[in-house]
Amino acid sequence: RFSEVSQAAAIEVFAVVKAFNDDAHEKKVNLSIGAYRTDDSKPWVLPVVRETETAMAADTSLNHEYLPILGLESFSTAATKMVLGENSAVLKEGRATGIQTLSGTGALRVAADTLKHVLKYNSFYFSNPTWGNHKMIFEHAGFTETHQYRYWDAANRGLDINGMLEDLNAASANSVIILHACAHNPTGVDPTQEQWKQIADVIEAKSLFPIFDTAYQGFASGDLDKDAWAVRYFADRGFELMVTQSFAKNFGLYNERVGNLAVVVKDASVIPALRSQVTLLVRGSYSNPPNHGARVVSTVLNNPKLFEEWRTCIRTMSSRIQEMRAGLRERLEKLGTPGLWDHITSQIGMFSYSGLSAGQVKFIAEKYHIYMLSSGRINICGLTTKNIDYVAEAINDAVLN
Ligand code: LMR
Repeated sequence: RFSEVSQAAAIEVFAVVKAFNDDAHEKKVNLSIGAYRTDDSKPWVLPVVRETETAMAADTSLNHEYLPILGLESFSTAATKMVLGENSAVLKEGRATGIQTLSGTGALRVAADTLKHVLKYNSFYFSNPTWGNHKMIFEHAGFTETHQYRYWDAANRGLDINGMLEDLNAASANSVIILHACAHNPTGVDPTQEQWKQIADVIEAKSLFPIFDTAYQGFASGDLDKDAWAVRYFADRGFELMVTQSFAKNFGLYNERVGNLAVVVKDASVIPALRSQVTLLVRGSYSNPPNHGARVVSTVLNNPKLFEEWRTCIRTMSSRIQEMRAGLRERLEKLGTPGLWDHITSQIGMFSYSGLSAGQVKFIAEKYHIYMLSSGRINICGLTTKNIDYVAEAINDAVLN
C-alpha cells in the first residue's frame, strides 16, 4: 500500500522558509512567512509574554492536567470580549460564546466542521486571492462547493469592490463567506467602512453566512478597536457570525497555537446546544487544546497592568512595520524604479502585495538570496534598517530586467 503513495505538492510558504534556512549566503533575507522580526532580523518574544511565562513557571499551583474539551474559559471569554469590544451589546445579551482552538487555522477548521456537520452548509466563498490555507481547510471539512469572489484589482493595486459585490450578489443562498477582518492576507488591502456597509447589505440580502478571519487584531494598526471595526459593525447590525482569532502574530506566540472561535448568535438560548455539538467535533478530532499559550494570553488580557504592557508591544510592532513600508517606498521612488509604489504605504498589516511577478520573485531569490512568495507577497516584517537598501536595489533590478 505505501508503495502507492505519491508525492504531494509542497506547502509553498514553508518550502520557501526551508530554502531560506538552507541558503548560506551572508546577505540572505526572508520576506516570506508571516512572522515578525526585530530590526536585527530576530524573532521577538514580547517582554510581557516573557514576564508572564516566568511568573507561570514559578507558580506551583499550576499543573499539567487536561483542559476542558472547549478549552480554558478565562481565555476564550477574554478573547471573545477583545474582538467584540468591552461595551458590546451582543455580549451584554449573552449572545456570544468562545471556544479555544489550535490557533487561527484550528479555529477555521472547527468553524468549518460546525458549519458543515451541524448547520449543514456546503458552499463557501473566499477572496481571490486569499491566505493559502482557507480552501484546504474548508474542503477537508467536507465542503464540496468551492467558490471565489473578486477582491484584488491588479491594475489599480486596490480593492475591486464592484467585482466583490457582484460576486457576493450572485452567490447561492446559504453560502459561507470568508472575510478578513483587517490586514487582508496577502494583499494588505481592506474595505473602507463605507464599503463594509455595502458588503453587509449584500450578505444580509442574500442570507449568506459571514465568517471573519482575524489574525491581526492590534497588530495591523496598533489599535485593537480599529482593527475589530468590521466584526463589531456586523455583530451590532444583528448578524449571526463566526470570528476565527489567532494570537500568533499579536502575541508572537506562533508555535503555541493559541486561537479562539467566537460565535455570535441571535438567540442566546441556543448556545448550550451549540457548545455540546462542538464538543463532539473537538473530542473526535484532538480531544482538548493545549494550555500554555492560552494561559499566557488569558493572564495578560485579564490583568490591566499586563494588558497595557501588551498594548505597548503591539504598537512597537505595528510602528516598525509602518516605518519599513515608508522606507521601502521612499527608496524605490528615489531609485526611479518604474511603476507606482504608493500601494506599499497604503496597504496595511504584515504584508504588501508588491505587484512583482513570479518571474521577478525567482530572479530576486536567485540573484540576491531574498525570499518571498511567488505571488509577489512581501512580509514587510522581514525588512530592517540594515537590509532595506539591499532589498530595494534587488526589486529595482528585477523590475528593470
Ligand atoms: C502566512 O501567511 O505567512 C502565515 O499566516 C503563516 C501561514 O501559516 O501561512
